[in-house]
Amino acid sequence: MNVLVIGNGGREHAVIQALAKSPKVDKIYAMKGNAGIAELAELVNVDYCDVKAVGDWVDAHKEIDFTVVTPDDPLALGLVDELESRGHRAFGPRKNAAIIEASKAFSKELMKKYNIPTAQYATFSDYAEAKSYVETCDIPVVLKADGLALGKGVLICKTREEALQGLEEMMLESKFGSAGSKVVVEEFLEGPEVSCLAFTDGKTIKPMITSCDHKRALDNDEGLNTGGMGTFSPAPFFGEQSAKEIMEKIMVPTMYAMNAENRTFKGVLYFGLMKTKDGYKVIEYNARFGDPETQVILPMLKTDLMEIFEAIVDERLDEVNIEWQDGACACLVLASGGYPEAYAKGKEITIGDLDEDVILCHAGTAMKDGKLVTSGGRVLGVCARGKDIEDARRKVYANAEKIHFDGMYYRKDIGIKYRDIIKE
Ligand code: AMP
Ligand code: GLY
Repeated sequence: MNVLVIGNGGREHAVIQALAKSPKVDKIYAMKGNAGIAELAELVNVDYCDVKAVGDWVDAHKEIDFTVVTPDDPLALGLVDELESRGHRAFGPRKNAAIIEASKAFSKELMKKYNIPTAQYATFSDYAEAKSYVETCDIPVVLKADGLALGKGVLICKTREEALQGLEEMMLESKFGSAGSKVVVEEFLEGPEVSCLAFTDGKTIKPMITSCDHKRALDNDEGLNTGGMGTFSPAPFFGEQSAKEIMEKIMVPTMYAMNAENRTFKGVLYFGLMKTKDGYKVIEYNARFGDPETQVILPMLKTDLMEIFEAIVDERLDEVNIEWQDGACACLVLASGGYPEAYAKGKEITIGDLDEDVILCHAGTAMKDGKLVTSGGRVLGVCARGKDIEDARRKVYANAEKIHFDGMYYRKDIGIKYRDIIKE
């Protein structure tokens, strides 16, 4: 089978590495891919947010049997609907289901309506109303741009001044573009966070192994929010009891809520959860694999990923037994100086002799004049499995030292947090 994968990040490189191992997959195409992906797939230079152009390309390339859509934008724009309407097989939620990520106002309302635990909130489209609410609400408070903002549209405000200023930036100065014209103002929650991703075909939901992201740019969770600076799997505090609680109170209710709204979700549903003193609460939903969570999850997957994708499209996920490796996995993101704000591109990357069991996931890389160069904020993910998180962490940091580019920076504390929390 020939498979087209949409996207060009570290997540897509991880998905392609998993698909390349499948006996079902003959050839992989990637739109648009990156320098690492180019080693496993033929790159296709079409703008994947132009859903009609992607549809035309797939129509014209009869050799494509199956398309995997992983990034949030094309999902929200209806790429899966477009491909299906032309008679092609495609993995990922349709537009009316991808809204669970594309609109925070939608997802908050869904949770309220179906009693899915989440932070208290209020939604505003009018600045004056939002301002008068924020003038008296409890502090700290969390402001969230309604739309897609590359994981950066969230402000945790520790003082009222910060909150009022953040609101101005979002609603009056359009700091997050049109994503911020509607704002969700949310109660501040506390507790360890875990990313729980699940495969679902709308009838069955099967959790993946858990992982933890490091969203802030700097050590000790300081600095700005980013798309993710590193991950590890599994979450050390997450035991049987947690798995049961989130399955019963969050995962299954969300699947049924989407069905009840005539928005059946087929694909990867990502639950960003916080373990509060009142139990697990949903911080966010994503309609896709996380980045860089995927880079630590897929190396732990024993089952053929292509088999899972096909089962979801055919709505027979109940037939697939999904198995995971023992041990742990870590991923360290090497970023361009300045990210998540402005950063330079085109810096040459040198990679020394990495240990054989290290998995390199390319994110913002390209080839220019025969040289590997940076082309994004998150450049590379250095990933490794180990017998436990400490072992995986050690391998990842030892190998990161062998990689260089101008301005490269990375967090030094990936995989440390939560290790003292006792597993229930
Ligand atoms: P999101 O993009 O919604 O995942 O938010 C980014 C990060 O902001 C989350 O991973 C949390 O660390 C933090 N965050 C979001 N919402 C809340 C909240 N209600 N209380 C505390 N922290 C939050
Ligand atoms: N790492 C968080 C995300 O993919 O949204």
